[in-house]
Amino acid sequence: MVNLQVREIAVIGSGTMGHGIAEVAAISGFSVHLNDLTLDILQRALNNIRWSLDNLHRKGQLKEEPSEVMSRISVTTSLEDAVKNADFIIEAVFEDFNVKSSIFRRISEYAPPHAILASNTSSIPISELASVTNRPDKVIGMHFFNPPVLMKLIEVVRGDRTSDETVNVTVELGRRLGKEPVVVNKDVPGFISNRVFMRLIEAACLMVTGNEATIEAIDSAARFKLGLPMGVFELIDFVGIDVVNSILKAMVNRGFRFSGCGLIDERVKEGKLGLKTGEGFYKYPEVGKYSRV
Ligand code: 3HC
Repeated sequence: MVNLQVREIAVIGSGTMGHGIAEVAAISGFSVHLNDLTLDILQRALNNIRWSLDNLHRKGQLKEEPSEVMSRISVTTSLEDAVKNADFIIEAVFEDFNVKSSIFRRISEYAPPHAILASNTSSIPISELASVTNRPDKVIGMHFFNPPVLMKLIEVVRGDRTSDETVNVTVELGRRLGKEPVVVNKDVPGFISNRVFMRLIEAACLMVTGNEATIEAIDSAARFKLGLPMGVFELIDFVGIDVVNSILKAMVNRGFRFSGCGLIDERVKEGKLGLKTGEGFYKYPEVGKYSRV
């Protein structure tokens, strides 16, 4: 039984994931308060949302005019203003425990007592974020995938003290956002998808370094046999080699066994971080075409 009716959503952090989550919420009819450190950053986020909405509209995938959707998004640099009337808050800031925990502490001071505090983290334990708040039973993981507007999955992650009511509200909200929420019962490193994805990366790296197959051959097998929308290395480039590397490190620190991937380490050292820098495992000559920010 779900008691809380979510009407207003606050999204904290307006980067790749944050602005995408705000867009999804606004498309689904919610009032959204988007927060970040500066108005310049927020303006870039609004530009990206507009680009995406125009794209969807052009293809007939949006029921309303882009400007109607945009009108439901307000931006603010004040964390307090963003969360003070919100029923549900989704944090999507930089993946760093100190940054996230300080934000969680402040959100829990400013948000209404009934509000649920969700984190889009891919690697930080939900229970540790919950422990700095005044409402650990209302803290939960809500892990979206990039690009949030196109990717259907949401991992709903239970912390040690998350209540059933909080899980139910989050699952229901995920469905109202048009997504397929899956519940992760234990706050395990990597949840479901990153845990499986890292095993794919491990196997793929070992095959390349053992000279058993090329990067291109493995990616073709992933696309044309496993049916993935992108090859393994292509997906690492898309997510960001540095991002994958830091998720991996965080998982290993929490006990995930991984045999290492020199191919990733090399590229991180060289600053070849994938799509966003124009080169990773592949070359992307038209960086501007892919990175709008
Ligand atoms: N909004 C609106 N439209 C978008 C968009 C966005 N954010 N991003 C891409 N598009 C559009 C493109 O402009 C393109 O439009 P066009 O047809 O008019 O040219 C269209 O979508 C299709 O894009 P592409 O032709 O570039 O490529 P695909 O058909 O392959 O689709 C994809 C793109 C949906 C990203 C697909 O490749 C895919 O599903 N890839 C896997 C992505 C994935 O696994 N993401 C998860 C990463 S892991 C993560 O996020 C978790 C974290 O913990 C790291």
